[in-house]
Amino acid sequence: MSNTHKPLVFSGMQPTNTLHLGNYLGALKNWVKLQDQMPCIYCVVDMHAITAVAYGKPDELRTAVREVAAAYIAAGVDPKKSVLFQQSAVPAHAELAWIFNCVARLGWADRMTQFKEKAGKHKERASVGLYTYPMLMAADILVYKATHVPVGEDQKQHLELTRDVAQKFNNDYNVEDFFPLTEPVIMGAGTRVMSLRDGAKKMSKSDDSDMSRINLTDDADMVAQKIRKARTDPNPLPENEKGLEGRPEAENLINIYSALSDIPRAEIIARFAGQQFSGFKNELADIAVAKIAPIATRMRELLADPAELDRILKDGALRAAAIADPIVAEAKKIVGFSH
Ligand code: TYM
Repeated sequence: MSNTHKPLVFSGMQPTNTLHLGNYLGALKNWVKLQDQMPCIYCVVDMHAITAVAYGKPDELRTAVREVAAAYIAAGVDPKKSVLFQQSAVPAHAELAWIFNCVARLGWADRMTQFKEKAGKHKERASVGLYTYPMLMAADILVYKATHVPVGEDQKQHLELTRDVAQKFNNDYNVEDFFPLTEPVIMGAGTRVMSLRDGAKKMSKSDDSDMSRINLTDDADMVAQKIRKARTDPNPLPENEKGLEGRPEAENLINIYSALSDIPRAEIIARFAGQQFSGFKNELADIAVAKIAPIATRMRELLADPAELDRILKDGALRAAAIADPIVAEAKKIVGFSH
């Protein structure tokens, strides 16, 4: 039972490459909404980034941390309302992650599909950090006793592991309800945005084709071009939601339209039923430009003043540590590290 814990949101993104429409619709858009409902903590997870892509590239990592912080703010995260900080600046994350490495079982880590995808064929060449990544993620969340975690669908399995870690810690140490059983918040039509070139693949930062994704840094022309060139099948738009079955590209574009406009899918389908994609894509391009292009403009303004971004992140780290430090101190006491 986790009903004794105060509502608190935690979420994060990796500073690897530029953020894209999937990150925005699956997570960021909901982060902004949640700020009006409960206290929120939003993190740039640079320690996760060095488990793979950012390893050995310190300058790129530093730049990416500021870019992601700027994207959060440009999309509507208010650093006065919410805590916005960089993971490595709050050591409590690493301390609790070690304890969780000892709570979680090898079998749990072995089941993580994201590790299998990211490690690829040669898992012996993946970093040990990539393998223990989910335990650090559990620590990110539980070091604040966060109750709600807004993410895209691909993070669901990691959040199940977070609940398992919390439950096992609470049971093993006989501290009922010390850590909450966190709820995933996976909401809206954009929880799994697919590639614009291949409806079977997730929109991803690591896809070789830039046309497969809309970056939050794309200007208006680029956003419109990518939507107009998005792959579709040769048939017109379906008459009803059932008609989307087996048509992943069509379904993806309708989902994107719905998530960007907050208009339900059924209403959109009813409006464009039987029409060719060209007219639909023109409208979708207008909507996407209206939502995404201002984010790119605001990001550029914010990135022009890196000292101010650094100040915001530093202030956030102090506020984050003030919450996390007493919780990790208590966890250490429970484990037997101190009296
Ligand atoms: P990351 O950096 O891969 O992605 C950040 C967020 O974007 C969502 N997302 C998507 N949503 C919809 N469609 C897509 N195509 C798409 N691609 C990405 C992700 O679900 C995520 O919400 N492990 C996390 C980072 C993390 C974290 C945490 C998240 C570390 N600690 C604690 C929450 C709480 C990750 O790699 O996300």
